[in-house]
Amino acid sequence: MRQANITKIKDATKNIIFPVYSDVGVCQGLVKHMEFDLNKIVKVKFKEVQEVYTLGKMNFDKILFIGMGDSKKMTSARMREVFKAITPAIKEESIFVAHHAGCETIDVKQATRLFVESFLTSSYEERKAGHETKKHIPVEIFAKEDVQEDIEIAESIALAINHARVWQDAPANKMVSTTFLEEAKMVAKRYKMEFQKLDNDKLEEMGAGAILGVNQGSGYPAYIITLHYKNGNGPLIALVGKGLMFDSGGYNIKSNSLGMKYDMCGAADVLATLELLASTKAQANVLGVLCVTDNMVNEQAIKPGDVITSLSGKTIEVTNTDAEGRLALCDGITYAQLQGAKYVVDIATLTGACIRALGHSYCGIFSNDDAFYQKCELALKLADEKGWRLPLDEDYIKMLESTSADLKNCASEPIAGASVAANFLQEFVDEETKWIHLDIAGVSDIKGKSTGAMIRTMAELAKIV
Ligand code: BES
Ligand code: MN
Ligand code: ZN
Repeated sequence: MRQANITKIKDATKNIIFPVYSDVGVCQGLVKHMEFDLNKIVKVKFKEVQEVYTLGKMNFDKILFIGMGDSKKMTSARMREVFKAITPAIKEESIFVAHHAGCETIDVKQATRLFVESFLTSSYEERKAGHETKKHIPVEIFAKEDVQEDIEIAESIALAINHARVWQDAPANKMVSTTFLEEAKMVAKRYKMEFQKLDNDKLEEMGAGAILGVNQGSGYPAYIITLHYKNGNGPLIALVGKGLMFDSGGYNIKSNSLGMKYDMCGAADVLATLELLASTKAQANVLGVLCVTDNMVNEQAIKPGDVITSLSGKTIEVTNTDAEGRLALCDGITYAQLQGAKYVVDIATLTGACIRALGHSYCGIFSNDDAFYQKCELALKLADEKGWRLPLDEDYIKMLESTSADLKNCASEPIAGASVAANFLQEFVDEETKWIHLDIAGVSDIKGKSTGAMIRTMAELAKIV
């Protein structure tokens, strides 16, 4: 996208998209050119679009007025909502008048970023096999100041988010562990990040028996993939993502595993976060750790009651093969700390219980450190994303006492599932490590479409840690 090469709206030769605040109305400049009072005609409601034909008064056919609501109520979150809602109405090449999108609290540059980012992520179309992918409709940005850089930054952010969604929406037969490995390699190469792949042999040698246990029934290899993005001398923060390319449940087979291609959203979000940070040249020091395998069934697959030894040395009784995410993640968390990370964020489609608690709106958040959690809250705010803190408590750990190992991976009672899973993970977090666990089971995909939720929050957090 680029800045429109015009100095006045009347010079436009393409339809314009014109933001209108209800308490401000249509600007006099535009009213002057039309021979009727636009303010009598334009009654556009919040988040709605009203088309007005120029009837030969301008060099273009129509104006798409968009309802910004009351300017005094405007926030960046509301502005994102407006732009998301009106994107489907943009059906042909046009010029967005960013110049009138600003208000007291949000300047034209920020409004430009919000528009470009929302427009590009909202016009994302999932790839349908055998069909051409739809192209974005070209939109130029009109502003009286230079916003080219803002356009480019917003484009980088949107591109990274949309990449995550391509990896996530790909069906599990097309996006297996080896395919995802190639994607990670490409990202590392493009941005010259340090890249490392630990395969089954290496994981075996290291003693990462938890992720290997999950991988036992699979026809594809397991990987712990690391990418390191470093700009500046900030403390190392690790982002550990659950990359279950498909979760059948294993021998505790799911009665319906439709949608379980999305069980790799955590890892894809981590990869996209690194891409976002690198493409915007952010100041951050981030180790991405992708825990990649699928959870399948064959004669070698892990069985209920099996005991495995994790990378940390802790032994785990696998009382439920469907609680596999925590097994893949615990080795990733241990590995991140072995690499020197003092801050660890893990992100996972971990529990159905989190969906039942928070639905598709809020990400479940857990932390062992109040100060780090507060940074996470700030990051959520900066990113306009929603999350809610849920409890960690020793009571939940008691539910994981095992008779044959240090702990079991699943409690016997199906209660407080999100907290029990988080407490399981905490057993692998050192006392000194500041840790956040993001349960994105509810927010990662909605109605068969991925969202890319929490990528921007993780990027913001990596920058302020
Ligand atoms: N990947 C699932 C969690 C999940 C379920 C994500 C539905 C998105 C939608 C995870 O591996 C899982 O199966 N969790 C179990 C844990 C249980 C066995 C303790 C669950 O939530 O049912
Ligand atoms: Mn599972
Ligand atoms: Zn899973």
